[in-house]
Amino acid sequence: MAQQTIIITGASDGIGAAAAHQLTENGHKVIVVGRSPQKTAAVAGKIGAPFHVADFADLAQVRSLASELTATYPRIDVLANNAGGIFGDREVTTDGYEKTFQVNHLAPFLLTYLLMATLIESNAKIIQTSSEVISEK
Ligand SMILES: NC(=O)c1ccc[n+]([C@@H]2O[C@H](COP(=O)([O-])OP(=O)(O)OC[C@H]3O[C@@H](n4cnc5c(N)ncnc54)[C@H](OP(=O)(O)O)[C@@H]3O)[C@@H](O)[C@H]2O)c1
Repeated sequence: MAQQTIIITGASDGIGAAAAHQLTENGHKVIVVGRSPQKTAAVAGKIGAPFHVADFADLAQVRSLASELTATYPRIDVLANNAGGIFGDREVTTDGYEKTFQVNHLAPFLLTYLLMATLIESNAKIIQTSSEVISEK
């Protein structure tokens, strides 16, 4: 397969970091996106990839991230919306939303929306990581 430009969010750890590593080994250009600057830089450094940092619990940071990505990458073949998790006790973000809902759903929706022109121009694929939680409360 020809080299693809692949943005992976939540690539500072877990599944995202493993995917970043594997896709780089397969010859693709991976852009590592994470929350922790130290962890994100470490993963990107290991695979020689560029990286960007944003905390999805703050939608202003998602907007800045989208601006950076738009300015830096005229072509995006794949956007992997992988960042997320389950954050325990109820917490409300500075944007006024429940944190797990914002980080897993609202932030990737906003990021995708803000990248839409580049994604359409690139005929990109968008991958959504999802999860299921069954509360017994
Ligand atoms: N592992 C599973 O069994 C499983 C099952 C179902 C669904 N999932 C989903 O798969 C995805 C990856 O899971 P994983 O197991 O690889 O999790 P993980 O090892 O905890 O990694 C989660 C990634 O998301 C990032 N992240 C967390 N909070 C963030 C925030 N506020 N803003 C931006 N990035 C944030 C983390 O950044 P930091 O490194 O800075 O924390 C990390 O890069 C998640 O969406 C998860 O819900 C996982």
